Amino acid sequence: MMFVSVILPAAGASTRFGGDKLARDLGGRPLLVRTVEALSRRAEVRQIIVAGPPDSFETFAARFGPVLGFHGAELVQGGREDRWQSVSLALAHVSPDATHVAVHDAARPCLSDGLLDRVFEAAASLEAVVPCVEVTSTVKEIDPAAAADVAEGDALVDSILGGETAPVLEAAPVVRTVPRDTLRLAQTPQVFARDVLVSAYARGGEGTTDDASVVQQSGRVVHAVPGDPLNIKVTRPDDLRLAAAILRDMASV
Ligand code: CTP
Ligand code: MG
Repeated sequence: MMFVSVILPAAGASTRFGGDKLARDLGGRPLLVRTVEALSRRAEVRQIIVAGPPDSFETFAARFGPVLGFHGAELVQGGREDRWQSVSLALAHVSPDATHVAVHDAARPCLSDGLLDRVFEAAASLEAVVPCVEVTSTVKEIDPAAAADVAEGDALVDSILGGETAPVLEAAPVVRTVPRDTLRLAQTPQVFARDVLVSAYARGGEGTTDDASVVQQSGRVVHAVPGDPLNIKVTRPDDLRLAAAILRDMASV
């Protein structure tokens, strides 16, 4: 039987969202609580560690401690700057009985049982597993350094009113179209044999934005399994509306 310890990095600043996204309401409960609920009901999950923001940890613990405690989750202090620091700090709290560690973005509340079935099943025989989705749009490489403003607004009106009549529209030249067949977008939960993740993080995670990258840097092979296009990360305000719609849809089937 697997003993999975889950780490939820939840110490981010929600800069792109603009305001604490993990505390936002999602169908009656805070987003962070929704994410924890999806994991706490799984038999494989025997420990949940939530890494909160170090600078406002007391507020975070007062707000989320009771409800997360109800779900059996423990709160620890995450990292100030980068996600990998939060994971690294949380790793120190993983139970010695854990066979596997799953790391899941606290900001991905639309986690289905089907996806959890897949990553846990794969992790039973592979030491490092990352759920990935195909790239469905055509991929362009652009030259941001050569981007220029396209004339917008009305120069005459601007000269009279002394302002800009329309927002600036930036256009960047396309350098090439990138073949997408072998490209994948990485999601979470990423699941690892405990010692593989611990020894990879012992070398540090500088410059990485996911845990599979840390393990790749340690020279280990990471395997991709099919992710779930609905397992979105809430990054910008519009994502919260999408997540609410997805959760409503998941609850109705
Ligand atoms: N995270 C973390 N510690 C950090 C930075 C991020 O635990 N120092 C967490 C976030 O709380 C989130 C996950 O990593 O659950 C994915 O990060 P992201 O979506 O980028 O969230 P934020 O960093 O909060 O958002 P932004 O980058 O827009 O500031
Ligand atoms: Mg971030």
